Amino acid sequence: VASLVAGAAQADYPERNITMIVPFSAGGPTDTVARLVAESMSKDLGQQILIENVGGAGGTLGAGRVASSKADGYTVLLHHIGMATSATLYRKLAYDTLNSFDYVGLVTEVPMAIVTRKTMEAKDLKGLIDYVKANKDKVTVANAGIGAASHLCGMMFMSAIETPLVTVPYKGTGPAMTDLLGGQVDVMCDQTTNTTKQIQGGTIKAYAVTSPQRLAIFPDLPTAVEAGLPGFEVGIWHGIYAPKGTPEAAVNKLSAALQKALKDPNVVSRFAELGTLPSPEADATPAALKAKLETEVARWKPIIQGAGQYAD
Ligand code: MLT
Repeated sequence: VASLVAGAAQADYPERNITMIVPFSAGGPTDTVARLVAESMSKDLGQQILIENVGGAGGTLGAGRVASSKADGYTVLLHHIGMATSATLYRKLAYDTLNSFDYVGLVTEVPMAIVTRKTMEAKDLKGLIDYVKANKDKVTVANAGIGAASHLCGMMFMSAIETPLVTVPYKGTGPAMTDLLGGQVDVMCDQTTNTTKQIQGGTIKAYAVTSPQRLAIFPDLPTAVEAGLPGFEVGIWHGIYAPKGTPEAAVNKLSAALQKALKDPNVVSRFAELGTLPSPEADATPAALKAKLETEVARWKPIIQGAGQYAD
């Protein structure tokens, strides 16, 4: 009888609001992607997806919260590449990256931009690198904690120029951007979902993007490879996860709603304005996200071990 009751309940899923945990502060790039997609998915599901920001420890606190939530389809996680890098960066996590979650689907890929406070004199990326080297140990770089995309890009930058910067961690690059705008911090590598408006407004300076090609919204902004950092490419992919054991009927409804959201003209145009690359619907399947996470954990492991930057 219990399985019949459970089955019936799942047939009507969702019957109430769904919580989407965003593992970084409100107002940051992950939050931006989540609110845009959740609003569209809510229409299809007929229930509100409410965003809850749970920041800290580079996104791993929020991920842990979802891993230990009831697997009933009413709590999901929207997280990015940090889900893969944290598996290596953190020697102990409150969850098992590849076994604590069920998969809903990939959402979008977001390029990053290397940006600074607007008072930075350097004229180009080479000039910025010269400035950093000439002011060793005095130049500050903001990130959203070990495991954040901004941490990963900052780590790649320090490795590429063989010069350390002084890290200033935040619970998200929303708050970090406030300090960059105020000139309290010098450099940041952040997703275009958070930097585009500020670059267009001239309130911060941009030196390069981390995409393979230049972005349509910034035709004059060179890629990091063009600007002198060979191989310096990173795309911040995002996925939606559910706690392991979530009923398949719920996962399938969430995945179908995600696929519809990725075709929603408002979502498509908003993502384009922000320089992101929505995943083709095919990626919004559970299998595509599972494969992506597994390959990305394996890909970043040696790179992170080479950089030797771990969370304590
Ligand atoms: C990151 O660096 O991972 C993002 O900035 C996190 C965020 O969305 O704030």
